[in-house]
Amino acid sequence: MAGWVALRLLGREVAAARLLAGVPGQAAAAAAVVTGRRGQWCFLVRHINSTTWWNEHLSKENVEFLKKITSEEYKAQTASKLCPLKDEPWPLHPWVPGSKRVGLIGLKLGMMPLWTKTGERHVVTLLQVQDCHVIKYQPMEETNGKTALLLVGGKNASPFYRSESRHKVYEEAGVPPKQKISTFKVSANAIIKPGTPLYAAHFQPGQFVDVTAKTIGKGFQGVMKRWGFKGQPATHGQTKTHRRPGATGTCKVSRVFPGKKMPGRMGNIYRTALGLKVWRINTKHNIIFVNGSVPGHRNCLVKIRDSNLPAHCLENPPFPTFFADGEEQLPEDLYDEDVFQFTDTSVMYT
Ligand SMILES: *[C@@H]1O[C@H](CO)[C@@H](O)[C@H](O)[C@H]1NC(C)=O
Ligand SMILES: *[C@@H]1O[C@H](CO)[C@@H](O)[C@H](O)[C@H]1NC(C)=O
Repeated sequence: MAGWVALRLLGREVAAARLLAGVPGQAAAAAAVVTGRRGQWCFLVRHINSTTWWNEHLSKENVEFLKKITSEEYKAQTASKLCPLKDEPWPLHPWVPGSKRVGLIGLKLGMMPLWTKTGERHVVTLLQVQDCHVIKYQPMEETNGKTALLLVGGKNASPFYRSESRHKVYEEAGVPPKQKISTFKVSANAIIKPGTPLYAAHFQPGQFVDVTAKTIGKGFQGVMKRWGFKGQPATHGQTKTHRRPGATGTCKVSRVFPGKKMPGRMGNIYRTALGLKVWRINTKHNIIFVNGSVPGHRNCLVKIRDSNLPAHCLENPPFPTFFADGEEQLPEDLYDEDVFQFTDTSVMYT
């Protein structure tokens, strides 16, 4: 843990030196003296705080023991498919058109091809749902007064080096700390008790989903890459302007309008791919196969929800979500009806 402390003193070096020496128990790793106006001094002191909530007063063996026992506990928490609805149930409501369900957090694994019964080849993206739990429920009154919110966390993270206030949220839900938390707007009949695990079978093959993720960062790029400008000719007297934007086009107004396409940082922003068809769902490894590409790099955490597009309305989905502890046993792989099965006879073109 490191923090910056700025001391602004009026021309008294001695007092500053005393202050520096007087900081107890912490290493002043770097001290920079910045001179401002005459007679004013500004000291920047960097503290390295090596003690955290979990390794204070702990011997080496104890730290190792703590690490081992927490990882075991978290594994058990993640593996338990017991729905907390069992012990203190929240009422379940039937699905009605217009209900909004919660979504999932998935890990982008990569892409692969898939063939339909008509012999067309599609590329699909594999999204794995890892350790996905409902973390918190925020009723309508606490939010904007229009929709209730459900916070969903995905992918277990290390509990160490995290603040205690953050741990409180997870402890209340009874789940391990998560790498990513997303907020989902849900209708009042679709709320789920915090601590409920979510699985890939929340979605059905054949339905359409929207996937939100941070795009791959490209850094600071010129206009040709960032906006697809044409650039300038190779010859006819060009000197070092082949990839430059040229004039920014202000005649009388003498200013550049906001939003003018110029070089700048590209990528690393949230983008949503809308209306992606779910071709297949693997219930064993919790993998969702969605049509086409989704934003983000491999191993990035994405937010998946039912499509908002009016053309892709849902029909009787698992509501409010799929509960793994129910009597219903799903097959290992659920396919859309159009997907070609390799156990079938081969497609023949005549
Ligand atoms: C260092 O960490 C301990 C334990 O969290 C905390 O009590 C203390 O305030 C921290 N010190 C600084 C200067 O941040
Ligand atoms: C799948 O994605 C491809 C490319 O992104 C698109 O051309 C095609 O129409 C999509 N198919 C379906 C069924 O959505």
